[in-house]
Amino acid sequence: MFPVERPRRLRRTSALRTLVSETSLAPHQLIAPLFVAEALVEPRGITSLPGQFQHTVSSLVAEARRCHAAGVGGVILFGVPLSKDDTGSGAFDDNGIVQVALRALRDEFDDDFVVMADLCLDEYTDHGHCGVLKSDGSVDNDATLELYAQTAIAQAAAGAQVVAPSGMMDGQVGAIRTALDSAGFLDTVILAYSAKYASALYGPFRDAVEVEIIGGGDRRGYQQDSRNRREALREARLDVLEGADIIMVKPAMTYLDIVSDLRRELDVPICAYHVSGEYAMIKSAAAQGWIDGDAVALEQLIAVRRAGADFVLTYFARDVSERLLS
Ligand code: PBG
Repeated sequence: MFPVERPRRLRRTSALRTLVSETSLAPHQLIAPLFVAEALVEPRGITSLPGQFQHTVSSLVAEARRCHAAGVGGVILFGVPLSKDDTGSGAFDDNGIVQVALRALRDEFDDDFVVMADLCLDEYTDHGHCGVLKSDGSVDNDATLELYAQTAIAQAAAGAQVVAPSGMMDGQVGAIRTALDSAGFLDTVILAYSAKYASALYGPFRDAVEVEIIGGGDRRGYQQDSRNRREALREARLDVLEGADIIMVKPAMTYLDIVSDLRRELDVPICAYHVSGEYAMIKSAAAQGWIDGDAVALEQLIAVRRAGADFVLTYFARDVSERLLS
């Protein structure tokens, strides 16, 4: 009989397990996505995202305060405009809902909290695509870049410390960096959704922002194909070359191989977005009593960190942070 190797020795007590744990999860590594809706008189719950709301500006500020108090790393804003049009002008209007909300958060926190703005047109276009359309109905990449540049400037001017382009247009990071620099916003950070996959897990988010893609269309013409792995590295490298300060992989759990690849190949901070469908799956199974939702949420967020992400965007941000603190 050979002597038995006993790795279990290190698992005997909770203190030992903590001592040798390889991965940490702290509140500052979580970012809370928050929705703010124009002309809403009180916050409205989002059915497919239990516990999440379309906020008024004042309930948004209150929620951001609770996140801040729980040690959450920051918030990222998504807007729900009152009306939509073919260019998504609410995205770059100085009085657009996200710009109004950014100014309110800036008044509240100044530089004491990281406030990010998702930078895309889909919440604001009447056709639901992330860019403007050509006459054949396809998304016009380069015409869209011009509007992203305007949106970046509007968001930075309203107080966004970080802008996060999520439209997957080619050249979007370069266009935004150039625009921000020439408008004097040299310190505005770009968090690029670099490897954003055309995923079926965004359904509840589209309910939250009331987006329906015209004609039952989809985003496969611009977001990545889930069959591809190498392509994510190409996208991320281009974004870094164009000036991305931080890169993102999205969704999270089904793309941990991508997180791991990018972590190995690149030296910028990396985050992952634990998206609406991932949150909804946990919430709905937990509501049935089929899983322990709190435990599964924690396990998944740790997995994202273990794969190599520095931080995670998650609808669990405040909830998990409050539990980590208690
Ligand atoms: C696009 C955007 C989407 C999400 C974040 N930014 C939706 C999409 O690409 O269709 C999804 C986030 C989530 O599902 O939680 N502006």
